[in-house]
This record gives sequence, C-alpha cells and structure tokens, in this order.
Amino acid sequence: MSRVLSGIKPTGKLTLGNYLGSFRNFHNYQAENETFIFVADLHALTLPIEPDYLNSNIYDIIAYYLASGLDPEKTVLFKQSDIYEVSVLDTILINYIYMGELSRMIQYKEKVKELNNAKIGVGIFTYPVLMACDIFLYDSDIVPVGEDQRQHVELAHDIARRFNARYKGEYIKLPHTALPKAGKRIMNLVDPSRKMSKSDDSAISKGVIYLEDNEKTIRKKIMSAVTDSDTKVIYDPTNKPGISNLINIYCAFKNVEVSEVEKRFEGANYGTFKKAVADAVLEELIPFKEKFNTYRQNKALLDQIFKDGASKARKIADKVLDRIMKVVGLR
Ligand code: TRP
Repeated sequence: MSRVLSGIKPTGKLTLGNYLGSFRNFHNYQAENETFIFVADLHALTLPIEPDYLNSNIYDIIAYYLASGLDPEKTVLFKQSDIYEVSVLDTILINYIYMGELSRMIQYKEKVKELNNAKIGVGIFTYPVLMACDIFLYDSDIVPVGEDQRQHVELAHDIARRFNARYKGEYIKLPHTALPKAGKRIMNLVDPSRKMSKSDDSAISKGVIYLEDNEKTIRKKIMSAVTDSDTKVIYDPTNKPGISNLINIYCAFKNVEVSEVEKRFEGANYGTFKKAVADAVLEELIPFKEKFNTYRQNKALLDQIFKDGASKARKIADKVLDRIMKVVGLR
C-alpha cells in the first residue's frame, strides 16, 4: 500500500483547472492507498493575505475536499498549521537545502518578477522547504500535484537523497510526483495561450471559470469562449487553440477521447458544441457545488474533521520527526 499526500493552498478563488487537476482526482486514491490530504494554510502566508479572507478560504478548501468525495474515514484530512511538527522539521531541514537550489525554482523566479521591487518575504523563497517537510513528515510515496508543483516535488526528492546519503540510511522516504491523468492543461477561454488560472485582469478573468461562479455565468463564459473563423470541431492546438481547449474540457468531463468528440460533433457548428461543453461541465459541477454549500455551512463539522485529522496526522508526524531529530543528533 502506498501513502499518497497532497495539499492545496487556500490563497484565492479556485478555478475549473483546480477542479480537474486536484479535487476531481484526489478521491480516486483513497480506496487503495493511505491518503493524506491537507489545506496548506501556512503556505498561504507566503504572500500578503487578509486574515478573514484566509480563514474563509481554509474552510472553502476542506468543504471542496468533502464535496469531491474525500471521506474522512478513509482519508486523513487536515490543516497544515495544526501539525506543529512541520515547523520544527522545516527549521531543521532548511539547513540541508542550498540557496542556489531555491533560487532556481520557477515559481519563486516568477513571483520575484511579478512583484518587481515590492517587498518580498523570505517565506516565498523557502516555500519548497516547507513543502518538502509536508511530504517527508508522513513518509509519503506519491505526491499528486499539478505541473506547476512538479519542480518542488523533484527538489524534495533530491533533498531526501542528500539527507539519506549524509546519514547513511533511509531516514527520509523518497517521494514521487504523480501528475493528473487528464493531463491536458485547461487554458483561459478568452486567451487560450495562457493557463486558466486566477487573474486580476478583468478581461482575462472572463475566460476563467471559477468554482464559485453560478450556472448562468459558467454557461455565458463557455458560450463566449474565443474560437476561430473556421467552423469545424477539430482538435488542432496550434491553429485552433480555442476549440482545442474546449475539446479538452469536454473530454475531461465526459471521459472520452478527442477522436470521439470530433466524431460526435462532425457537421455541428460551434454554438452547438459550446452548448454541449457547458452541459457537460454543469452536469458535474452543479451537484459538486451543492454538496460544497452544504458542507461549507456546517462549520462545526468542518472543525471536527480538522481536529480528528490533526490527531491522526500528528501520530505519524511525531514518529517521523523523532527519527529525524535522532539522526541529526538533536535527541
Ligand atoms: N504548493 C502547493 C500549492 O501551491 C500546496 C502544497 C504545499 C503541497 N505542500 C504540499 C502540495 C505538499 C503537495 C505536497 O497548491
């Protein structure tokens, strides 16, 4: 049995990309593995965030986890900051990672560029260390993440190898990345050359489907997706990026191959196809959102789940931390 671990940062609005890349996949692991899924709330502090907003996002994520079918009886669901051991491990392992390695992390470099000369906290630089600690603390084998987090998991793998070589033993389990099967990236509907991720630009934001959008808005966004002057529903990411993106979305929701979509919509116009895409998305998203709303309103239940999850997670975290503290000579 493998141990699977993943988490999501409660930093902002969640998109259809988050749904397909994370929420929709995580529950598939819980039947045959030991699954640990958490809310990466400490990581959310790496960029400025309002306390009330952060707090509300934390509950959103746990409610989305539950709505997606993660069962607290089968999966350890918890909040990163409840596990104090992670911060101790972070303080230790930060000494085993080189400045150069962290400077090469794509996400860090992008943030530095984006934030320009603004003040940047140290946490954004050391972000991958804490992430590695999340992974190590539960002896994780498999870490399902989106493409943007792959480099961080690979770094964790390198750190584990280095640590084990230094102390001559298997003290840290080597983690492996698992990228989502529906691996096609979902692109922005207005600008299909960019990823569908949260944007502050209002024009671009119209091409992003947020999980909090209502049915009407989602339908409207899909119906107004940018396409091309051709009329055929054919997969061609280079010349027809808009239609190809819609095909990918349709494929993901209907679990069909591209060729099947082309066959189904042969001779159909873009309007008909877009309507079918909207139907496919909403058929699944509406019940998901309804479940989310029910869980989200039950804060007492969510707090209880966090509490139970923390006590289960800490039992393991405690042992792993003890093992590492002993090997470096602290205990
Ligand atoms: N960095 C991840 C994100 O941006 C969240 C995360 C933190 C994580 N620690 C992790 C994911 C450990 C997988 C494993 O969403």
